[in-house]
Amino acid sequence: MYKDVKEVLVTSKQIAQKTKEIAQRISKDFAGERLLMVCILRGASLFFADLVRMITTEVNFDFMAVSSYGSGTSSSGEVRIDKDISTRIEGQNVILVEDIIDSGNTLIYLKRLLLARAPKTLKICALLDKPSRRQVPIEGDYVGFSIPDAFVVGYGLDYKERYRNLPEICILKEEIYLDNNEDI
Ligand code: IMP
Ligand code: MG
Repeated sequence: MYKDVKEVLVTSKQIAQKTKEIAQRISKDFAGERLLMVCILRGASLFFADLVRMITTEVNFDFMAVSSYGSGTSSSGEVRIDKDISTRIEGQNVILVEDIIDSGNTLIYLKRLLLARAPKTLKICALLDKPSRRQVPIEGDYVGFSIPDAFVVGYGLDYKERYRNLPEICILKEEIYLDNNEDI
């Protein structure tokens, strides 16, 4: 798998350190309160698993799966819910956990959808952020690393379902996806 990697952008050690810092901030902000942590499948699964076990306040889990239509390495504004959460979130403190904020289309859609269900609070946590790619105005409340405009894989992130199990965040070689214009 590493043969397709151009460069390691964030090491496992840096990920672990940052995840701990985010968990501490969340634990402090929600001390004494219960949280519903919602993992956006599948990219956020590893980050979610590492993050929740370092949060010291009471946490419930739920999962959501979404697909965004697009070609190559970019998404479109169209988002489809493949799996909704099964928890009633009215009056709850909800944190959406994403792998990466890119155009922002996915999160702006999810935020609107969940806000309509009247949670007590709704926050966004993302391991990675590519601010230069934003198409809609949305920011994460807890963000790990701001990264340049490069397509990354590993630690849950994929290119066509591959490379999710790489332990680090890696920049994929352009030649892997350049001749290829199918959906991500
Ligand atoms: P957005 O709706 O454009 O913000 O896209 C968010 C989704 O696109 C993420 O949840 C990822 O699944 C995917 N994505 C965006 N950038 C990357 C990347 O660099 N590597 C892998 N997946 C990405
Ligand atoms: Mg993906």
